[in-house]
Amino acid sequence: MPAKAPVMPVPCPGAEGGGVDAPAGLFSREAPIVLDLGCGNGLFLAGLAAREPGWNVLGIEKKEYRVRQARRRAGDLGNARVLHGEVLEVLSSLLPGSVSRVYLLFSDPWPKRRHAVRRLVQEEFVALLYSRLEAGGTFFFATDAEEYLAWTQEKLSVNGWQIKEWAVPETWPMTEFEQRFASAGLNIWRLQASR
Ligand SMILES: C[S@@+](CC[C@H](N)C(=O)[O-])C[C@H]1O[C@@H](n2cnc3c(N)ncnc32)[C@H](O)[C@@H]1O
Repeated sequence: MPAKAPVMPVPCPGAEGGGVDAPAGLFSREAPIVLDLGCGNGLFLAGLAAREPGWNVLGIEKKEYRVRQARRRAGDLGNARVLHGEVLEVLSSLLPGSVSRVYLLFSDPWPKRRHAVRRLVQEEFVALLYSRLEAGGTFFFATDAEEYLAWTQEKLSVNGWQIKEWAVPETWPMTEFEQRFASAGLNIWRLQASR
């Protein structure tokens, strides 16, 4: 069996202060930073990086085996990287105003009411997202759970976010979960929010 590549946890030296320029050392050139939060097996991440060579696409994923899958998929793409870590910690470690786009795609919806506190989208997440996005930067959100869409819209009703439906281009890469939901004939709900 081939040896597994080591998966390193992300140190977050900026978590309590103003942040550090974490992606700077990850990519070989400067380019707009685009995040894929909870990138899973990297299907979307690799598709996006191939489609948009002018972007530096950074996946963040907490499960080790998913990180390995995503890194394998990203392969030789110079503009795709995957960090093993918690979304909130990695976001905290980034410089304010340093991110152009953030994708949160098919994040666990925790449909039971008493479990909603486990959703990634909470006030703290939205505040961090707002501070890490550059002026005019955009957050993209997709879910199969209509109630999670409404929840996210409500959480974004601060700071003057400009929210609208996210119309995906025809050739847009799909995520693994999106493929599953689409082949099951489920509806997919999307929004984009710009600051
Ligand atoms: C339902 S899956 C969706 C994966 C992928 N975005 C897709 O659409 O195929 C959610 C992913 O987010 C990851 N995840 C959930 N919470 C996270 C967190 N706080 N930090 C990092 N990754 C997280 C999970 O491990 C899982 O791989």
